[in-house]
Amino acid sequence: MDQQKIHPEQGKKRSNLYTVLFIGVCAIILIVLFKAPPETTKKLPYDEIHQKFYPMGKKEAEKFCPSCHDQDKIAPLPKDHPPKYRCLFCHKKEKPQ
Ligand code: HEC
Ligand code: HEC
Repeated sequence: MDQQKIHPEQGKKRSNLYTVLFIGVCAIILIVLFKAPPETTKKLPYDEIHQKFYPMGKKEAEKFCPSCHDQDKIAPLPKDHPPKYRCLFCHKKEKPQ
């Protein structure tokens, strides 16, 4: 009781805030985990065009993607395409090599 008189409600408010922040952060992590484009994202096709990328490392293969998949190219990305920094993190290879 005495301590609360010295710091009226402050400590309590702060720990409530931390609880809310903590729950918020957990919720965000869960949402990101569940929303992260999982299996629904189209896989890197295993066809004549894309086959040659299978034996390459991801980083190496990704250098070639924009030559066709960029604005005004053969197969431009959809307008609402998410950030495209690392193609193969989202468009996984269809088959394990
Ligand atoms: C030589 C041009 C070319 C290059 C290089 C290329 N693509 Fe493609 N890509 C195409 C064309 C054309 C299509 C559409 C026809 C098809 O599915 O093969 C396509 C289709 C796709 C699709 C959609 C498949 C589907 O099911 O609709 C994905 C995903 C894709 N490419 C990813 C990639 C990635 C990742 C790379 C780099 C590793 C890459 N492409 C490199 C030409 C290319
Ligand atoms: C953050 C994840 C992510 C990254 C990185 C990414 N993509 Fe995508 N891409 C998607 C999603 C999600 C879609 C929506 C359609 C789907 O389900 O494939 C899409 C759609 C596409 C399509 C159209 C597929 C179709 O026919 O509907 C192509 C082609 C494609 N991406 C190529 C690429 C290329 C090339 C790169 C690298 C320059 C790349 N993507 C990077 C997530 C990603």
